[in-house]
Amino acid sequence: PALGLGTWKLTEGAAYPTVKTAIDIGYRHFDCAHIYGNELDVGAGLADALELQKVRREELFVTSKLWNDCHDPDDVPSALEETLANLQLEYLDLYLIHWPIAHQKGIDLPETPEQFRSLDDVPLVKTWKAMEECKEQGLCKHIGVANFSAVKLQALIAECETKPEMNQVESHPFLQQNDLLQFCQQNGILFTAYSPLGSADRPDRLRKENEPPLLQNPQIESIANKHSCTTAQVLLAWGMARDTIVIPKSANADRLQQNFEAAKVELDAEDLGAIAALDKHYRFIDGQFWENIGGPYTMANIWDE
Ligand code: A2P
Repeated sequence: PALGLGTWKLTEGAAYPTVKTAIDIGYRHFDCAHIYGNELDVGAGLADALELQKVRREELFVTSKLWNDCHDPDDVPSALEETLANLQLEYLDLYLIHWPIAHQKGIDLPETPEQFRSLDDVPLVKTWKAMEECKEQGLCKHIGVANFSAVKLQALIAECETKPEMNQVESHPFLQQNDLLQFCQQNGILFTAYSPLGSADRPDRLRKENEPPLLQNPQIESIANKHSCTTAQVLLAWGMARDTIVIPKSANADRLQQNFEAAKVELDAEDLGAIAALDKHYRFIDGQFWENIGGPYTMANIWDE
């Protein structure tokens, strides 16, 4: 489904009721990750809905992501199995390498340079081969990556047997990533846009001063007024109009409903032109957090720009 529920930042208390409400509204696509720390609660919400026969498993599309401390090929199947156990599922629809960044085993968020591992030490292609094996074993139906540049995708494609089926990256009108989107489309790789609403509820370590407000942008507001909808709906409709998949997070029933209904908003050529002009290649999640710790990862070598 082109619109899914983003579960990043759904707190322990909120994840379970939010997933249940989302299913009642009609959400079938759930974007999860081990590092979000809430897969048990998300899984409980999914399990309830399945048990009450509100949905069948094959109607759901559930994604999760391999965390950076489990890039070692031996750790990939066990990480996926732990996620499956937490989500109470027998298979995932999609499993992604979360970042092109590796940590020492057991380190969720490094605090010292030594807690990283370099990609020379644990190459992405080796991690990817373990992902391919997980797919062959039926632990997941599809495999892909997240936060990969075209350079990293190209390198992986050159060395692997199965191409990534998905690249999940930040995208919204301030970070349109047209070149990356075109590269993905030309290579048959689907593109999921995370933080489609700007993720204003990010933790402080991922925030900067003077971030440009996306949901209050005057051009987006004027398009929203024209269509009698909200700015969030314009942002999501824009993402879907350019054939990307959007995964907005909300813990609020009205906003969940509102976001789900963004699929009904039809933007015209004038709107799309006005939004195209808003691109400033601005990342809310810019990688500074990794660079600040020191070690092998910099904003330049994460994004290859
Ligand atoms: P809340 O969970 O209280 O609804 P992103 O999806 O880009 O990560 O953005 C999530 C942020 O956007 C959260 O702070 C969420 O708050 C807020 N949000 C989600 N849907 C809407 C909406 N329709 N209108 C305004 N803010 C929204």
